[in-house]
Amino acid sequence: MKPLVLLLLLFSSLLVANDKARHYSSSEDCKACHVQIYNEFKDSMHANSTPQKDAIHASIWDKHPQNVKQSRYGCGKCHTPAADDLDNMQTVGKKAMPMIDNVTHQEGISCAYCHRIKSVELHAKHNTNIMTDKEKRYFGTLNDHMNSPYHEILTEGNEHMKNGNVCIGCHSHKMNSSNLNVCSTNIDNQMNGANCVSCHMPKIKGTVSSLKDRDQHAFHGFAGSHFHSDMLTKYVDISLLREIDDFVVNIDNRTSHALLLHPLRVAVLKVSVTRGAKITKLKNEVFVRIIGKDGKPAMPWAANTTLKDTMIQANEKRSVKYDFKIIKGDKVNVVLGWFLVNPKAVDKLGLSQEKVATEFQVFKEQSFEF
Ligand code: HEC
Ligand code: HEC
Ligand code: HEC
Ligand code: HEC
Ligand code: HEC
Repeated sequence: MKPLVLLLLLFSSLLVANDKARHYSSSEDCKACHVQIYNEFKDSMHANSTPQKDAIHASIWDKHPQNVKQSRYGCGKCHTPAADDLDNMQTVGKKAMPMIDNVTHQEGISCAYCHRIKSVELHAKHNTNIMTDKEKRYFGTLNDHMNSPYHEILTEGNEHMKNGNVCIGCHSHKMNSSNLNVCSTNIDNQMNGANCVSCHMPKIKGTVSSLKDRDQHAFHGFAGSHFHSDMLTKYVDISLLREIDDFVVNIDNRTSHALLLHPLRVAVLKVSVTRGAKITKLKNEVFVRIIGKDGKPAMPWAANTTLKDTMIQANEKRSVKYDFKIIKGDKVNVVLGWFLVNPKAVDKLGLSQEKVATEFQVFKEQSFEF
């Protein structure tokens, strides 16, 4: 019996070693010196990526077969990557679910996790982040960083932090079991010199740390469809072309990926014309990608095909024609915005009381006077 016991011991100590490698400093630790970056981050979707903190996530998770049938949280790979029991979360039968009282779960995509991504392995289903082994050694991009009393700074091999490859381990694509790409971002993301980082983490005013005064730092609130979309409006141009009997609204998406990516989203173009005291609302134009099965819309895990895709694609200029004759003195109001959750799915997901799921978010608003 002895060899078996030894083997078991050896095995369990390996597990411990593995868990140790998976220990990430808490984002709270960074607050002491990186106050502004921390404050931006804590309200972002990266810090709120768990079912307990995100009502939309919770609604999908409640119904998901991994939850209902398997008691595993495969989502953890991207939604709670700093979890101390990440391996178990991804294993059927281990019953490791996201918990409200486990700090390492509620950290979400933490500071230390993101800054320890060394490289990304490309896979068909979804990619995998390769992490550095040592705690408290973070990749950074400042050419002239001072030393930190709390951690080491790695600048060699930091290209992925600058060119956006650090993002594609989680954001590139996600295939479901029917090999349908549920959500994908064009990762060939260089566009006119812009990439994931330069667009979503623009440089803004405020120092990097409290130990050295600097004019600017990279925005860590991660501008996106929930928050701070105003930082991204400059990548989408709206123009209007008046014709004799009608007019055309052009939306020029100068982004390297589709306007919205997650299949829950619906973008809407709302146009109205003000003539004197009268406002005429014209028909809403809807941009959406609907996934489904057997000809009907279906949940992301059940869908096996794309039923319809009118979403504005990467680098696409979309023209929408309105059969309305503009006369002198008219003012045309154009609003482009979105619902984070398709209004047709809100009731089914039990989200009708959640503002985040039901509210129309205005992205860009413009008026044209004639
Ligand atoms: C390969 C990485 C990856 C995995 C695995 C993954 N997700 Fe996500 N998820 C993402 C990314 C990236 C986004 C942000 C996409 C966006 O905003 O377009 C996201 C967004 C979401 C959203 C939208 C949240 C909101 O507030 O609008 C829901 C819901 C969601 N995921 C549910 C899940 C569930 C449930 C699982 C597990 C069954 C899961 N995800 C697994 C990467 C992943
Ligand atoms: C005791 C203070 C202190 C704490 C705590 C701290 N840092 Fe820093 N950090 C610094 C200083 C100082 C710099 C260098 C700033 C400069 O040169 O302007 C820095 C720089 C960085 C950089 C950028 C390096 C570069 O070259 O771009 C990263 C990334 C970073 N810290 C991550 C973290 C993370 C993640 C945490 C929490 C887990 C953390 N820091 C906690 C003091 C601290
Ligand atoms: C460990 C996985 C992971 C990495 C790495 C990652 N993300 Fe995310 N990201 C997510 C998940 C998961 C969500 C969705 C969270 C939710 O809505 O619940 C998300 C959401 C977002 C959003 C949507 C925010 C909003 O307001 O809706 C943006 C923008 C974003 N990420 C940009 C980035 C950028 C830029 C990088 C690289 C610097 C990056 N992400 C790296 C997993 C990741
Ligand atoms: C989703 C990934 C991600 C997360 C989460 C994240 N960072 Fe960063 N961080 C980056 C990237 C990418 C850069 C490089 C930005 C650039 O070069 O423009 C960066 C830059 C920095 C810098 C260098 C200074 C600067 O502004 O360019 C510091 C310091 C830093 N991060 C600290 C933190 C702290 C502290 C947290 C948590 C409160 C955090 N980061 C969370 C991806 C992340
Ligand atoms: C040229 C600028 C630009 C580049 C490059 C870019 N994005 Fe975006 N991104 C946008 C704009 C504009 C939107 C739509 C407005 C919004 O969501 O606030 C957006 C939206 C998003 C969203 C929210 C989508 C949703 O359905 O909720 C995520 C997530 C995202 N981008 C991630 C990425 C990642 C990851 C990369 C790199 C692979 C990237 N973006 C590259 C400009 C850019």
